[in-house]
Amino acid sequence: MDILPAIILALWFILPAYASNGLAVIFGRGSRLNKPLDFGHNFIDGRRIFGDGKTFRGLVGGTAFGTLIGAIQLLSGEKIALPWLGSNAPIGLWIYLASYLGASHDLLYFLIYQWLTFSPLFFILLDLPINSKSILAPTMFHGFLLSFGALLGDLVGSFMKRRLGLERGQPAPFLDQLDFIVGALALSFIEFIPQIEIIIALLVFTPIIHLTANIIGFKLKLKKEPW
Ligand code: CTP
Ligand code: MG
Repeated sequence: MDILPAIILALWFILPAYASNGLAVIFGRGSRLNKPLDFGHNFIDGRRIFGDGKTFRGLVGGTAFGTLIGAIQLLSGEKIALPWLGSNAPIGLWIYLASYLGASHDLLYFLIYQWLTFSPLFFILLDLPINSKSILAPTMFHGFLLSFGALLGDLVGSFMKRRLGLERGQPAPFLDQLDFIVGALALSFIEFIPQIEIIIALLVFTPIIHLTANIIGFKLKLKKEPW
């Protein structure tokens, strides 16, 4: 697979995780109808379990928003991306196959066309991952797993930071940028495992995107720190 389609598919695949992690910052602001997920309790080492930066509103709001993004992806995948790719179907090859199978009849040709378009063979011919259909038009469950997984990963990251003695908001390079992506991928694997190229693209590009987004969030005064 070429690098550009890999990056585009990777970003499309992970979008619900980015959305939920980003929107948790907005939903989590303020204390009205909000509580830290650890209710202010300490762990056995005397430090906070997660800290004040991980709240119920952030978790619920982020997950709900990410799942909504997943639903929009399903719709746009089915209505836009797949029909567009379908119009690129290798029709010459399909006709050849149909005639090879003795299918001169229109209906039979139509059935073969229907059957082969979006099949693994179709995507191999376009030099795309064989399961591209599930990436372009993902299920809503997929959106939920990525969104919830992202915030669980973020929570585990904060748990680790507190155990290392880092206060809420102190930077932990790589952990801050990658905890949510690892959580999102891990949870979504129960439903779908993407190609290794896609996973690598995500691990390489996410820290850059995350840092850029956080600097913008900081400048817009949505975030307290630029990391
Ligand atoms: N946030 C939230 N609930 C979550 C995740 C994030 O309310 N489950 C909000 C908090 O307001 C948090 C902000 O998003 O301060 C930024 O998130 P993050 O950078 O992950 O948290 P930090 O405050 O930096 O805390 P930590 O040191 O634990 O990473
Ligand atoms: Mg932080």
